[in-house]
Amino acid sequence: MSVTVRSYLGVGDDSSLGDDVLDGLTRPFKELPPKHLYDRAGAELFDRICELPEYYPTRAERAILAERSGDIAALTGAAEVVELGSGTAAKSRLLLSALAQAGTLRRYLPVDVTEGMIRDTGDALAAEYPGLDVHGIVGDFERHLGHLPAPTGPRIVAMLGGTIGNFTPGARRRFLRGVGRLLGPDGALLLGVDLVKDPARIEAAYDDGAGVTAAFNRNILRVVNRELEADFEPERFDHVAFFDREHEWIEMRLRAQQRMTVHVAGLGLTVGFAKREELRTEISAKFTPRRLVADLAAARLEPIELFTDSDALFGLTLARPVAAPRFRATRNRGFAVAA
Ligand code: SAH
Ligand code: TRP
Repeated sequence: MSVTVRSYLGVGDDSSLGDDVLDGLTRPFKELPPKHLYDRAGAELFDRICELPEYYPTRAERAILAERSGDIAALTGAAEVVELGSGTAAKSRLLLSALAQAGTLRRYLPVDVTEGMIRDTGDALAAEYPGLDVHGIVGDFERHLGHLPAPTGPRIVAMLGGTIGNFTPGARRRFLRGVGRLLGPDGALLLGVDLVKDPARIEAAYDDGAGVTAAFNRNILRVVNRELEADFEPERFDHVAFFDREHEWIEMRLRAQQRMTVHVAGLGLTVGFAKREELRTEISAKFTPRRLVADLAAARLEPIELFTDSDALFGLTLARPVAAPRFRATRNRGFAVAA
């Protein structure tokens, strides 16, 4: 048993917070990428979101994993699990336990931007699963997946919690294509996606009565204040969550209550907000089975199974690489795909 943690976030490189703020706050429609929501305070708020009565995704996905982890273990025979955006790995334990019980589990490789979570989770899991090797990666899953070691046996790459929905559609397919290359020939992708449903139900999940989600959303301004010496007044921004029916995603925004000027001293940047101007902090795409299959196909992946909970709120798909097309030389020029 061993625990190794490697960090690819350099000193002063908060996974490019400065670049993201400079880019995102100087656009006509202001935007910040969601990975900066999860500092220690943000991660604690997210844990509270997962327990909220309105936030159904965590409970639904946990129910699916509780029911299907044995099947997933049998279908994959996985020796290792790479988990992208692992957080506290609360639900992943259901899968790890099924693989341990099947006797195939050897290694767990969590990837997350939040260092404390990788360290705490890694230590806890190594203690819970005797003989398990943990290889943690503190890094950005959009930039650092090349640092993952080669598979040592059949591999599952898991992305749970609907995190895949936080990409825009083009970036999502590019990301899935890259993930496909991490699987190896006998690996599988385990992907959790929130399903399209009544917009009111979705909007409630992202705007709870207790205001935890609003606090989580505003926390991104506190991160910018602390890391880049900015003077945002988070309480002067309202939390906005609305379902965009055309794109089938929910958007989280922060709306300035009044006209204001914000200084980001660390970047030498001054940013003006008009009254009611909005800053986008996250999109969370919701899927139909058809759209999911199309995204997988565009990344040369095909579903083996699509599991759902009893209320069809959330989907968990197990997918594998499409068998590589065989090429044969044609008589005159180039190659053609063999039938
Ligand atoms: N998998 C957990 C947590 C989901 S929240 C669950 O299902 O409950 C999303 C997680 O992804 C957070 O832990 C956050 O720190 C991490 N994350 C977000 N963007 C990331 C990025 N670009 N690279 C690595 N981790 C990221
Ligand atoms: N990935 C989660 C989701 O899309 C994160 C999340 C939940 C979130 N609630 C939020 C992000 C509120 C920003 C604001 O469901």
